[in-house]
Amino acid sequence: KQPLRIGLIGFGCVGQGFYDIVGRQPGLGLAVTRIAVKSPAKPRTLPAERFCFHADDLLADPDLDLLVEVIDDPAEAFRLVSTALRHGRRVVTANKAMLAHHLPELVALQRASGGALLYEAAVCGSIPIIRTLDSYFSHEPLQSVSGIFNGSSNYVLTRMSQQGSEYGPALAEAQAQGFAETDPSLDMGAFDPRSKAVILAAHAYGVFLHPEEVLNLGIESISAVDIARAAAQGRKVKVVAGLYRLPNGSVAALVTPQFVGPESPLYAVEQEFNGVVIAAEFAGSQFLHGRGAGGHPTGSAVLADVLALQHGFRYAYAKQSEAPETQLTEGLEVEV
Ligand code: HSE
Repeated sequence: KQPLRIGLIGFGCVGQGFYDIVGRQPGLGLAVTRIAVKSPAKPRTLPAERFCFHADDLLADPDLDLLVEVIDDPAEAFRLVSTALRHGRRVVTANKAMLAHHLPELVALQRASGGALLYEAAVCGSIPIIRTLDSYFSHEPLQSVSGIFNGSSNYVLTRMSQQGSEYGPALAEAQAQGFAETDPSLDMGAFDPRSKAVILAAHAYGVFLHPEEVLNLGIESISAVDIARAAAQGRKVKVVAGLYRLPNGSVAALVTPQFVGPESPLYAVEQEFNGVVIAAEFAGSQFLHGRGAGGHPTGSAVLADVLALQHGFRYAYAKQSEAPETQLTEGLEVEV
């Protein structure tokens, strides 16, 4: 049987993690047949002939069964993913900023073209939270979805707490570990978890929030004194993202540093790990915990999406009463 032929766009931390996982499991019947990257000059872990430098060539390649987009740049990611969907292609992306700004349009594009887009890797790395909300809890009213959605800032807070160190040296350590964004202010200013909250709101509540509607406060001004004050009360400082159903039916979303005590499962979420608490009306409370960043954990979520697409899976967006009002524009600008 012919393997499923994958075009990989981007070969950074997540792209390499995904490539490695596929290579280690030949029995899956997957083959990364083309890889597109931006810079011909950058040293790579594979021979130069494995790469091409025009992602658009992959979009049009009829010999590819599916595309995986894992580049850093949200505007370019939107251009590539929306073009591929317009052509009815099956696509996996991990680009949370791009999704948070364009989800209604991307959902409408899929409905119009028959293309399909999955993006489990965009939220909380290895934790299967989108599919859990979209499929498993499609029937269930949710009171809240809350958690630690950013590995880098959680790593910084953990190191500050363990070592009594200040923010600067702890941030340098997080960057050396390789799970921070290229621009660390996205992690430390809570813009990255803000994007993730927007994506989860669509699947948990059928609500398409604009990123600006989510209050986000980061950890840049948290000092060793704040951490010590929390510890004196038996608590830890954590950046908690929360989506809360309000009595009037609307959804409030915020991502802010909070004091978290041992009564919360989030207290034990340390280092670059993420955790999500789902408070469901009938099922009760559930907690998912796992690695929120890094090549292999995030690559594993990309692989899960590839296999799901192969088997015909699509997100249901079941809680959304009707297709969002959106204009299918040719404009490709994205703000981040
Ligand atoms: N920079 C992100 C984080 C990577 O630290 O959680 C995963 O989205």
